[in-house]
Amino acid sequence: MVAMDGPSGTGKTTVARKLAERLSAGYLDTGSMYRVVTLAVLRAGIDPADAAAVAALARGVTVEVGTGPDRPGAALDGADVSAAIRGDDVNHAVSPVSAVPEVRELLVAQQRRIIDQVLAEVGGIVVEGRDIGTVVAPDAPLKIFLTASAEVRAARRGAQDSTAGRTAAPEDVRAAVDRRDRLDSSRAVSPLRAAEDAVRVDTSELKIDQVLVALCELASQRGMLSGCVQPVGSEARP
Ligand code: DC
Repeated sequence: MVAMDGPSGTGKTTVARKLAERLSAGYLDTGSMYRVVTLAVLRAGIDPADAAAVAALARGVTVEVGTGPDRPGAALDGADVSAAIRGDDVNHAVSPVSAVPEVRELLVAQQRRIIDQVLAEVGGIVVEGRDIGTVVAPDAPLKIFLTASAEVRAARRGAQDSTAGRTAAPEDVRAAVDRRDRLDSSRAVSPLRAAEDAVRVDTSELKIDQVLVALCELASQRGMLSGCVQPVGSEARP
């Protein structure tokens, strides 16, 4: 199992999915689970800052996420919400919702069940989030903590937004990224931080394929699965 933590805009999702593909492993995006609960909160008209109401709602909803790295997908009470959980409203409300201890307790328990199931069925899994190496799976044999400069992270988020058809001034994107990372890093329960034994990889100056080469090396040093299979036509081919 590979635990991959770090703030937004570090390339975490792209890297985690591609690494899972190369390792023929499953993939779990834990952030999407917090996003599904946040969407349920917003749809119910609950104030994301009302921790008691958020906790009560979280106990009554069904969160499902796919574990295939090609098209993971997410569902709320059986309905596909893969696109809706990427909206600006969810981006804005997800930090307070994910800071509610009961929400974390419920989702961490579900994440551990999913990890056990995928490990039993597929043999490996790459799990991305903020607290995977510290809380969800502290025994993971490989822990990665991705970082990147604030400028690079804001630029990547801006590029993602424009692909999704949203346009915002660069300074607004930077402010939103800074705000969410500040909230995620300063919350009382399971704040974003690197595990002591995590390998830190700064992706500011690296292309995705270069990050993958470094991670594949680390994975094979730990004897993980069959090692990394290079896809045909990859720039990273040695
Ligand atoms: O990775 P992401 O941007 O989709 O995550 C959305 C939010 O969920 C993020 O602001 C912090 C929270 N999160 C968390 O608290 N713990 C995790 N393991 C994953 C995400």
